[in-house]
Amino acid sequence: MTTPATLPPLRASLLTDDPLDLFARWFEEARELSRMEYPNAMTLSTVTPEGMPDGRVVLLKELDARGFTFYTNYRSAKGEALDANPRAALSFYWDDLARQVRIRGTVEKVSAEDSEAYFQTRPRGSRIGAAVSNQSRPLGGREELEARYRQMEARLEGEEIPRPDHWGGYRLVPAEVEFWQAGAHRLHDRFLYRRGGGDWTVERLAP
Ligand SMILES: Cc1cc2nc3c(=O)[nH]c(=O)nc-3n(C[C@H](O)[C@H](O)[C@H](O)COP(=O)(O)O)c2cc1C
Repeated sequence: MTTPATLPPLRASLLTDDPLDLFARWFEEARELSRMEYPNAMTLSTVTPEGMPDGRVVLLKELDARGFTFYTNYRSAKGEALDANPRAALSFYWDDLARQVRIRGTVEKVSAEDSEAYFQTRPRGSRIGAAVSNQSRPLGGREELEARYRQMEARLEGEEIPRPDHWGGYRLVPAEVEFWQAGAHRLHDRFLYRRGGGDWTVERLAP
């Protein structure tokens, strides 16, 4: 695993005051340079009230000064975990850039208006798919799901697909962000930002 020649090694001189600015730069580079189909894929880790960790991939759909937004079913396993324990971690790994970013923080629901606005940008089939899937619940068979899809498609022909109340966005508000970039001889570069009050501090960690 080596950093592409087009990218500089991660040095303290490249750090920004706010880690979201550095993340935005890395994300842009991932979108431009990575051959991954989904450079916005990130592993979302949650913990149940019983203390059982869980992880799954979701897609980053919005990034702004408030945090990292993804969309899902609020009644899914992750939704239930986040209801009970609204803290989570996100991990990005861009293999061909030899970079990893880890983020920890609190999670909040985005406004219903924002969820609505995003829902309406999705292709019609994805909107129907989201509406008919009871995500994370047992399903008797694939036919059942496809039948529900066809029924809704026929029932709402020519009409808008309403967003289910239980489908929407979560925003992870970061408290810690760690950047990792591969270095020669496994002397990787790691910098951990922590938010204390309104300000960020950053320190280098041993690889
Ligand atoms: C590349 C990729 C992208 C995914 N994006 C999402 C997503 O944005 N939202 C979502 O709810 N599930 C997404 N999934 C499916 C989740 O990984 C997961 O199977 C689903 O959300 C159910 O998780 P849960 O039972 O832990 O709630 C994605 C899976 C993959 C492999």
